[in-house]
Amino acid sequence: MAVPDKILTNSDLEKIVDTDDEWIVSRTGIRERHIAGANETTASLASGAAMRALEVANLHPGDLDMIILSTSSPEHIFPATACLVQDRIGAVKAGAFDLLAACTGFIYAVNLGSQAIKSNGAENVLVIGSETLSRVVNWKDRNTCILFGDGAGAFVMQASEEPGGVMTAILRSDGSGADLLSIPGGGSRHPASMQTLYDGLHYIQMNGREVFRFATRVMAEASQQAVEAANLTMNDIQLLIPHQANQRIIEAAARGLNYPMEQVMVNIERYGNTSTASIPIATVEAFEQGRLNPGDKTVMVAFGSGLTWGAALIEWTGPLPYRRKVSPRKVRWFARTRSILARLRRRIEGFIWGNG
Ligand code: COA
Repeated sequence: MAVPDKILTNSDLEKIVDTDDEWIVSRTGIRERHIAGANETTASLASGAAMRALEVANLHPGDLDMIILSTSSPEHIFPATACLVQDRIGAVKAGAFDLLAACTGFIYAVNLGSQAIKSNGAENVLVIGSETLSRVVNWKDRNTCILFGDGAGAFVMQASEEPGGVMTAILRSDGSGADLLSIPGGGSRHPASMQTLYDGLHYIQMNGREVFRFATRVMAEASQQAVEAANLTMNDIQLLIPHQANQRIIEAAARGLNYPMEQVMVNIERYGNTSTASIPIATVEAFEQGRLNPGDKTVMVAFGSGLTWGAALIEWTGPLPYRRKVSPRKVRWFARTRSILARLRRRIEGFIWGNG
């Protein structure tokens, strides 16, 4: 995982909008969130998390076949942020693309990565969830700006003869709720203009109460469906890793499943809602705290804009045995040099052949 150094606490927010720590903690469970600095972007956070994941997995970026980057705050409309990450880490033979399923995106991405591996389309897949929602939040809107934070998390998924990995996945959507949570401006429907800026259409718009109602309904339902599809029950699950949007939504999901809160991973108090990055960040922390071990079964469950929702039942496996030692410093140096040389070659070729 990778999160910005800068932390914004609830009392910092009290100085920006009409809110208070007590309201935010009691309604959401959030105490602080990380906010990207001037030089931090969705690609830089994603690359940081990616390098860390490759290091843990002992996998060289050159061995990656595919990079799936889930985000709702891409660097540009195009090119895909995944391609910027591919260049930064030097994944020379990987296909790369972005996936947009909002806060549910990481569940979609993990399932897609797993399907690519199972169909022999790929051996090593890097799945990243990365967000800098602080860049698209209206810092004058207390309904939304208190909720979100920035960060990234990444998984390396690998083909293996051992049982485990993604056992089942439930992916759902309902576009009739598209207007409940959106950034309407800047796309082809409302191209960026003085008017869209004036109307604030480039900011997150949200109907909090409706999203809340939807979330409490689908979180337990999707988790239940994911375990039933594997002929298991929640009693077989060691850890539930829910999307970290609101402590009350998480507690409602646990209640709906009749599942003990002690077995639910919660870290929303320190990160806020990092959208698609929240599940991989929570997973990394669960792993580091010894709450997720090889052989454990975990359900990851999320909901978000779209509307989308989904759950994946995963048997956690540790990193595969030693492959190629990864030196992050060398990898970064190689990637940067390769990128500079590739740009230089393109310039020279343009000079020789003319620019059209
Ligand atoms: N500080 C203080 N008061 C605030 C506030 C803030 N930051 N934000 C809203 N309020 C006020 C409202 O204006 C409202 O006042 P009013 O009754 O005078 O109009 C009051 O608090 C209650 O607002 P309400 O919207 O009913 O609060 P809530 O209990 O539903 O909590 C959310 C609001 C946004 C925290 C909650 O609805 C939620 O978490 N929804 C889901 C959002 C989400 O998860 N989005 C991301 C999905 S991935």
